[in-house]
This record gives sequence, C-alpha cells and structure tokens, in this order.
Amino acid sequence: MPYRPALNENELPPGTLRTVEIDGRKILLVRRDDGIYATTPRCPHMGLPLDKGELTPEGELRCKFHHARFDPKDGRVCQWADFPPGIQLVNLVRKPRPLETYPVKVEDGTIWVDVG
Ligand code: FES
Repeated sequence: MPYRPALNENELPPGTLRTVEIDGRKILLVRRDDGIYATTPRCPHMGLPLDKGELTPEGELRCKFHHARFDPKDGRVCQWADFPPGIQLVNLVRKPRPLETYPVKVEDGTIWVDVG
C-alpha cells in the first residue's frame, strides 16, 4: 500500500506523541531527536492508549498505565509492564510483545506513513 499523508511536520514538535487517523486506522506518531516513527496506538500489554504516555529522556515510549517501555523506531520491548506491584500476576498471561511499526517519510513538510 502506498504512503498516505498523516500530518504536517510542524504539528509534531520534538519529544511529542500524537495519534492520527489514516484511511480509518489510528496510528501513533512519535517524534524523537533522531526521527519520526509510526506505531500502533494501543499498548500490547492491555490495549490501552499509548498517546497518554510519554517519551523518556532516552527516547523510549513509556505507557502511562503499567510503565511498559518500547523503542518506537523498531517497536522492541525495552521494559515490560512493572507497575503497580502485583502486575506480574497479570503478566503471566500478558507476555511481552513488541509494537507494530510502519515506514515513515517526510516530504515537503508533510509526514507520510505506509500503513501496509
Ligand atoms: S497497558 Fe501499557 S503497560 Fe499495561
């Protein structure tokens, strides 16, 4: 599937997250110092919205709810959910899973995403 326009580049300042809709699908855009990345908008731990979270100083995407952290560049799990105490019981059935990511390019001030 071809790239689709997602957002004007200047609407996603460095260090921010934003959910956009492309062809009826929600996609999370993340802007770090080293680039712009696109991922699924829901945390693979319990399906809660990642745009309520934040980027850490290390550039990891941290879920607000149980503090799982992901690299938005490739979706890998940096730290699985470890909050609050006792969440490990839930994790017995919620094993670590990476985020799905999508190719991104920026042209003429527009962020384009290939949602596949
Ligand atoms: S829903 Fe994201 S860490 Fe639990």
